[in-house]
Amino acid sequence: MKARPKILLIEDDAGIVGGLKKTLQAEGYDVAVAERGDTGLIQGKEQDFDVVITDLKMPGLSGLELVEQLHAAKPKLPILLMTAFGTTETAIEATKLGAFDYLLKPFDMAELLDLVAKSVACNRMMSEPVDMGEARSSQSAIVGNSRAMQSVYKEIGRVAATAVTVLIRGETGTGKELVARAIYQHSDRAGRQFIAVNCGAIPETLLESELFGHERGAFTGAHARRIGRFEQADRGTLLLDEIGDLTLSTQVKLLRVLQEKTIQRVGGNQKIPVDVRVLAATHRDLETALKENQFREDLFYRLSGVTITLPPLRERSEDIPELVKYFMQRSGIEVGVDAPLIQPEAIGFLQNQTWRGNVRELENAVRHALLLARSYPISREHVQEACARTRKAAPSSDQTVAGYLSGLLAKAQNGELEGVHAVMVEGMERELFGRAIQIAQGNQAKAARWLGVTRTTMREKLILFGLHPTGEPPSE
Ligand SMILES: Nc1ncnc2c1ncn2[C@@H]1O[C@H](COP(=O)(O)OP(=O)(O)OP(=O)(O)O)[C@@H](O)[C@H]1O
Ligand SMILES: [Mg+2]
Repeated sequence: MKARPKILLIEDDAGIVGGLKKTLQAEGYDVAVAERGDTGLIQGKEQDFDVVITDLKMPGLSGLELVEQLHAAKPKLPILLMTAFGTTETAIEATKLGAFDYLLKPFDMAELLDLVAKSVACNRMMSEPVDMGEARSSQSAIVGNSRAMQSVYKEIGRVAATAVTVLIRGETGTGKELVARAIYQHSDRAGRQFIAVNCGAIPETLLESELFGHERGAFTGAHARRIGRFEQADRGTLLLDEIGDLTLSTQVKLLRVLQEKTIQRVGGNQKIPVDVRVLAATHRDLETALKENQFREDLFYRLSGVTITLPPLRERSEDIPELVKYFMQRSGIEVGVDAPLIQPEAIGFLQNQTWRGNVRELENAVRHALLLARSYPISREHVQEACARTRKAAPSSDQTVAGYLSGLLAKAQNGELEGVHAVMVEGMERELFGRAIQIAQGNQAKAARWLGVTRTTMREKLILFGLHPTGEPPSE
């Protein structure tokens, strides 16, 4: 170990340079400064540094370009990127290009020193170098700058460019599917197929044929050969969502496919090679499932080599204001309210909720509040009412109507619920509209006709329940 670790600081703002230099020197580091990206790159390549700290926006060469080029030349040199608040894309990109870590401005010095110390200590290689020039467009951004989310972005950056299987875990509504899509978008398979299969929503008998396909005559009703999802996703990415819901027999088959990288159609005996990057997601507690022999250990280990765990929303309430604004804007477009406003007390209220349904529940509450407020600023009363309506408004899918109603009335009796009529009507409507549009395979005109409502009503209800395709795809 060298006595005084050397740091290269690449930053054009003299004020920032002065402050950082002083702090770092006081900590015993040698600090060299470059005021431009291009000169910084040359210095970084030609001299020996322990750590490079670079700004994102600089004359000569951008921080990202610098990260890429310097990392290519010196893969073991840790590079820290300083970037402005609210640019998670940049953070993912930077990590992917090889940045060791990033700092969101404004950061405090303790945080910086901690990172620098860590970088010096590790001085280890990051993920493999990756190609540039990718399609970055993502209609749904991942919002949130909390620590917990930052490490999620870092994980995404680290695994995206590799071909490893990633297991994405987290409570319902925490954004597992969103993360799967982000991994895909940042991978070198981005131009190819992305297919998601919800393993929990398909009965076992059909699931195998869905995943692996079947030959004609494989079973009653198999009138023609069917190409399964694995084959369709060849050279692409397959998300096996709700993997915790697989039956043991399907687990065995899946494990074999993952190991052998070939599939066999149901009723067929040919082994067909497939090149599929598998991502898996679940909200289930797999460790308990293992103990109870509901989930195979070998499959678990096969899948969980790389695991990304999404934090529940209640553990990152600092992200709520930003999420609320993001959802207001999106729902505003659906609902037809330009530039919707919200009062600070309303945001405060939202930050204090438990959010068992996590981000999805927040999104629904915001949409609801916006419909209640229309073009007025969203107030605390609006969000309060929206939360009451969103929460537990829907009967669970395996409940009978009688059971649902009894449950609501029991709650009313205990003083836990008010306005049972409104809650019930909305819960039933959510079910009715949701199922109709599902059976109609997204055809709104058809579903409206079946229900005997106008297409405008259909559209409004779908927006209200978060089932409208221009908003977010139906989450189930
Ligand atoms: N960090 C985030 N930023 C913006 N939107 C988010 C974020 N996390 C989740 N969402 C939104 O919340 C909704 C739920 O996300 P998603 O479907 O990815 O959750 P999930 O974890 O897969 O839930 P489930 O376990 O119920 O399937 C989606 O509309 C998604 O766009
Ligand atoms: Mg999901």
